[in-house]
Amino acid sequence: MPAPALAYAGRPDRLKPTHFVNSLEFAPSPLDPVRFNPVSCAWWPYRRGDDAERRIRGWLGDLWALPPAAMTIARDGHGRPYLQAGAHRVDLNWSHSGDWLIAVCTERARVGVDIEWLRPRPKALALARRFYTPAESAQLTALADDPSRLEHAFTRLWCAKEAVLKAHGRGLSFGLEKLQFELDDDGPPRLVACDPALGKPEAWQLHAWTPVPGYLATLACKVVA
Ligand SMILES: CC(C)(COP(=O)(O)OP(=O)(O)OC[C@H]1O[C@@H](n2cnc3c(N)ncnc32)[C@H](O)[C@@H]1OP(=O)(O)O)[C@@H](O)C(=O)NCCC(=O)NCCS
Repeated sequence: MPAPALAYAGRPDRLKPTHFVNSLEFAPSPLDPVRFNPVSCAWWPYRRGDDAERRIRGWLGDLWALPPAAMTIARDGHGRPYLQAGAHRVDLNWSHSGDWLIAVCTERARVGVDIEWLRPRPKALALARRFYTPAESAQLTALADDPSRLEHAFTRLWCAKEAVLKAHGRGLSFGLEKLQFELDDDGPPRLVACDPALGKPEAWQLHAWTPVPGYLATLACKVVA
């Protein structure tokens, strides 16, 4: 059966999603609001086994003022969900960790999101040495005397990598070592090098924040022509 055409009742970036548990919008480039649409983002309490897709359909329906049943979500060959939105180029992604679910959607861009519960990670350095780039491992090794900073930095890098790889669509199987970030004390991790299949590093916008205490979220966004 063909997917129902998405009647475009509203623009996500113009709605006031006051009834969501939590939400915010990022403006990837305030300098060019015509080309760069904001990314809508919302998060909700989540329990393992909850139907995340159902929750996301409800959210998308609210954004477009359409019944959730009209929001048909399909999966590509790598398992990446997408909205069957007819001519509208809507991209979406979601992530769950611990007790929270987070989702993002936007137009004319690829988006990926990751949320991580900030739990102790005693194997952080060993994992970084195995899966991160040598430069990233070196950044973390420099924090070896301060386990809580080391584990937090490890998770910041993990979230950033996963967000970009989920936006790209191949997920972690593409390779955590195929993209390299630098960490500053302030601001999101900076993508400084990546596999050409991901595009130019500077094409990616990242936002990292604490949506709820004890959790770290990172959103990655790349505008598509
Ligand atoms: C997808 C992947 C990144 C999920 O990692 P995770 O830390 O366990 O989970 P998160 O909570 O952050 O994200 C899960 C969501 O990512 C989405 N997702 C699944 N595959 C994806 C992909 N290839 N790209 C982007 N997003 C994907 C789904 O919405 C999923 O939610 P669901 O479990 O409710 O369906 C990881 O499993 C992976 O990289 N897999 C490799 C992709 C692959 O080989 N797929 C083949 C299966 S067909």
